[in-house]
Amino acid sequence: MQEKATILSTSQFHKDVYTGLTDFPKHLSSKYFYDAKGDKLFQEIMDMPEYYLTNSEYKILDKFKDEICHVFFKDSEEFDLVELGAGDGKKTKILLRHLSLKGIPFQYIPIDISENALNELEVSINNELPSVKIKSLQGTYFETLEQLCKMQHRKKVIMFLGSNIGNLLHPQAIEFLRNIQELMNKDDIFFIGFDQKKDPQTILNAYNDSAGITERFNKNLLARINVELDADFDLNKFSHWEVYDPESGTAKSYLVARENQTVRINGLDLTVAFDAWETIHTEISQKYDDKVVLWLADKAGMRISSVFSDENKFYKNYILKKRI
Ligand code: AVI
Repeated sequence: MQEKATILSTSQFHKDVYTGLTDFPKHLSSKYFYDAKGDKLFQEIMDMPEYYLTNSEYKILDKFKDEICHVFFKDSEEFDLVELGAGDGKKTKILLRHLSLKGIPFQYIPIDISENALNELEVSINNELPSVKIKSLQGTYFETLEQLCKMQHRKKVIMFLGSNIGNLLHPQAIEFLRNIQELMNKDDIFFIGFDQKKDPQTILNAYNDSAGITERFNKNLLARINVELDADFDLNKFSHWEVYDPESGTAKSYLVARENQTVRINGLDLTVAFDAWETIHTEISQKYDDKVVLWLADKAGMRISSVFSDENKFYKNYILKKRI
């Protein structure tokens, strides 16, 4: 579904699991959450009342669609609206519908690693918004974007929604933004969502829901290793644990071993020993404020041109431009 999903080859998955579980402290990458079951669980997370991110961004796009579409189009000719990691397009459709209604000429180009996700998105857009020109591109973000830039020279609006950037540490986020910046021309726009720092309890609840969906999402990593690498993790012997540091704005997810145990991973010819209460770090979900976004953009050679926020100031969407 998203680039995090399956960007890397199976052998990379093998390598990363081996490295992560033989390291100290142990870790596994959140990009491996997203197999078919993980995609479904993430969909359920986005529908949970505690996971305010999706609804906050939806409200921003709905409330400011006119202003946002105006910034996108601003005295340009037909442009390409490129979306990285398109997902189910629920939020994007707000903008697609509005651009169509206003008669603004554009082509929608969703980029995703999953052919299946793109096919489903294309069908739903053709049904719901038949006047939208859609050309989906299957592949990894940068390679696909790079190819697109070589082929097509008109104005680009690149979108990266859902605070997906929050799953990157700051140095990786800067590299990500820099890669985007290098593919942008003077008039191009990068439209990106950043989840904001807020009451720490609200953040903890979003990543530790009462129905246990996030727990299943986190443990799906172990389930995936069991299936794909012929391992024998007992999911009941691990707990999902979330911490949030209000100083750094970093939420961190862990799987904590509830007792001493050994796990056999046949696919890696590896036996992993866990002490009781030993951790596997699985994800970071970074929270931001304007100063940090400004710092990241600056480091990447970009500037903030506009900011849109929901009324609680839980979440913000930024228009970034190349600094020239
Ligand atoms: C995809 N990403 C932005 C989500 C987040 O909020 O970090 C993934 C997620 N992890 C737990 N809940 C949602």
